[in-house]
Order: sequence, then structure tokens, then C-alpha cells
Amino acid sequence: MAAAGATATEGWSSRWGFILAATGSAVGLGNLWRFPSQAGENGGGAFVIFYIICVVLIGLPVLLSETLIGRHGKGDAIESTKVVARDSGASTAWSALAGIGMLGAFLILTFYSVIAGWVLYYIGLFAGDVVSSVQNGAVLGGAFQGQSLEQIQDHLPALFANNPLMLGMHALFMAITVYVVARGVHGGIEKIAVYLMPTFFLLLIGITIYSLATGAAGEALGFLFAFDPARLLKPDVMLAALGQAFFSLSLGSAMMITYGAYADRKTNLASTSTIIAAADTSVAIIAGLAIFPIVFAAGLAVDSGPTLMFQTLPASFQTMPAGSFIGFLFFLMVFFAALTSSVALLEAPTAWVMKRFNLARGVATVLLGGIAFAIGILSALSFNLLADWHPLNFSIFEGQNFFDITDTLTGKILLPLSALLVAVFVGWIADKRLTDHENGISGGLHQTWRFLVAWLCPLAVGAILVYGLLG
Ligand code: PFF
Repeated sequence: MAAAGATATEGWSSRWGFILAATGSAVGLGNLWRFPSQAGENGGGAFVIFYIICVVLIGLPVLLSETLIGRHGKGDAIESTKVVARDSGASTAWSALAGIGMLGAFLILTFYSVIAGWVLYYIGLFAGDVVSSVQNGAVLGGAFQGQSLEQIQDHLPALFANNPLMLGMHALFMAITVYVVARGVHGGIEKIAVYLMPTFFLLLIGITIYSLATGAAGEALGFLFAFDPARLLKPDVMLAALGQAFFSLSLGSAMMITYGAYADRKTNLASTSTIIAAADTSVAIIAGLAIFPIVFAAGLAVDSGPTLMFQTLPASFQTMPAGSFIGFLFFLMVFFAALTSSVALLEAPTAWVMKRFNLARGVATVLLGGIAFAIGILSALSFNLLADWHPLNFSIFEGQNFFDITDTLTGKILLPLSALLVAVFVGWIADKRLTDHENGISGGLHQTWRFLVAWLCPLAVGAILVYGLLG
């Protein structure tokens, strides 16, 4: 049934192409950088258990809803939502849910590229260390031999103090993202996912086994899986877990609607969404199993938050056999994951801009990538010159610099708001015959999905939104 106004002419070459690209979008800095730091800050086990509950009961139903909207509408995210609304006899104003998500995706891209730029810098740093360890005949020794802990941790502030370098890395990462998206859905996005995702999984498994074998595996396992019911019930921990599940599955960012539109009518969306969510969650947990044994073995703090990956972990590689080589592979792996996510962040607005302004793909990507880069400069400078610039010094933005504001605006407002509207739209507004017919599930599972989308998802996501806004 080709819907009126269908515009997507590009598509995945197979169901696996879709699964790899969507998993590539979901698996990113959120899994490798944000999940371990959040788990560390929120006490480990309780956070992890609640995170898994959130993925299954809230993330998965919303993920299926978003891909459904895209696949039915077959256009950019806004167009697809309009088609579903029109075919359901509802107002096309519901397409605002996609507009909000798209804005969120675009703003995330602005700072995602800054952090991914740090990752590029660390690849270079470890590559240099591999070379010097080979020259010194100490390949099997730890990373950064001869440097003190402070010196290793100082690599991050040193990067912050060097604007041309930091902005150069940001520009390089953005340019790579633009290049891939400009090559198209099949020739760019799917192609890198097909190569990079299997390589990513191999690296992740390899590094994790090595880390568990050489690091403090027992302590890490205890920390990640110890069940402490007292902590489980803390609202802060619960909301942190829900917000993390959301960001990690790329929900509320118009992205899964966009990718869903490239899926063909035969694809079973329910099973595909389940595979994507399961892969994303496994990667987050395995990333914890890769990182914490190394950090525990080095006796460093697991609750160091956002600097865990860039300061604590590199310092921990010093005590690990072949640390520089493993560190190099680790950051290469993070780069692969970040790139398959950033292309998704750029693709969602690109699809819309191409259609809306009738632009060629190459022009749309260069334009959007250029603007995202320029806005991202303000985020990069938030780590030095603009650290004390608080452009929106009120309410939840009080005391926040530009980087923090973009993070808060997207994570606490735009993404949850878009996902809330998705759940209400699919749960209550869209024609049920249409969403039921195309979702690929039946019987009890289908009833459960309906209940979760109509009731639990709006309530839970509404709660994150209100709680987030109250600060
Ligand atoms: N899910 C990605 C991560 O975990 O790093 C982040 C992300 C990518 C969010 C794409 C939203 C999106 F559209």
C-alpha cells in the first residue's frame, strides 16, 4: 500500500542492512562513554537493572512505534508522520513530533562531533605511544611508560588548552560524517555500517575478554550486577536510567522514523526493533565489562563520570600488559561507534532539507554539516574560553555553559518531548488498524505493546520530562 505523498526513493539493500545501520546509530558514545560513567556515578547494579527494565518496557515499544511511522509514511520524518496522520484522519500538526526530534538530532550532532573529536585525538595519542613502545622494545609493557598518573590525566586538559587542535579534530570528524551521508543511504550509511559494525563487535569482544582476563574481573562483575534493592528505588537512579535508555536507543530524535522509512514492506519491524534494542543493551553492558576491570585493577575511581573514558581509563592502561596497543584499539572502536551514530544524526535533518528545499544530497549535507560544525565551536570552547559564559542563565539552564545547555535542551526537553508525542500519537491518535496491521506482532504480545505505548510510555516519559524541567 503506497501511501500518498511517499517520497523515499532510497532504501536499505536488505533487512540486515537496516539492522546494522540502525544498531550502528544506537550504539555510540552513549554506550561506551555515557553508560559506564552513569553506571559508575549511580552505584552500579541498581542502575543497570533498572536500565534493562526501561529498555524492555519503554524503549522497545517506542522504538517499534517510530519505525512504524517511518515505514508507513516512506518519507523524511516530518513527511512520514504527516502521511500517518492523514491516513488516520488526524491533524497533520502531529508532524511537530518529528520536527522536534529532528531539531534534537541536529543539536546533538553539534556536540557529539566535539566529543568524537577528542576520540580522534586519543587515537593519535595511543598510536604515538604504540610507536614509542615499539622503539623502546616495550610493546608488552603498559601505556605511557615513564609518565606519572597526573601526566597521563593531563592529556585532556592539554587538549582543552589547544583550540586549533580541538577545533581541527571537531572539523575532521564532521567532515567524515558529511562525506558518508553525502554518499547516500545505501552507498554511504549502510556501507559503513556493514563494514564497521562487525569490526566493532570483534574489537569489543576481544578487548572485553582481555580486560576480564588481565584486570579485576570479580570486582567489576560485583559492581555491575550486585543487586541492592535500597538503591533501586531511588528516583534519581530510576530517572537517570530511563534518560540513558532513551539516548542510547536514539529515541525521540526522528532518527528511527527516518531509518524506518528506508525499510521495505516485508521487513518485520517488531523482530527488527527487538534485535536493535538487544544489541544496543548488550554493547552497553559489555562496555562496562571492558572498562571497569581495567579501572578497578588500577585502583582508580569508578565514579569519575564523564572523564572516566578520557582520563581514568587511559591512566588505567598504564598497568595493563600491552596497554598502549589495547588503548589504541579501544579508541579506534569508539570512533567506529561514534561515526555510525553521527551519520544517523545528520541523516534525519538531511532527508527533510533535501525534500523541503529541493536540494541535492551533497549540498544538503555540506550545508547542515557546516552549520552543525559552526554551532559546535561554541560547545568546544565551553571547555576553555567560554567555560563561564552562561547565555541562558535561568531555570534548568542556570549556571550552564553552551555545551551543558545543548545537552540539557536535547536530553531533558526535546528528545523526551518528541518521544512522548510519538507514544501518544501511536497509542491514541493514529488509526489502530494501520499501526496494528504493519507492526509484525499479534496475540498477547500485541496487546502488551498496545498497553505499553498507550499507558506506560506516556506516563514514564512524561515523568522524565517533568522531573527534568523541575531540575
Ligand atoms: N544512540 C547514540 C549513542 O548512544 O551514542 C546517540 C544518538 C544517535 C542519539 C542518534 C540520537 C540519534 F538520533
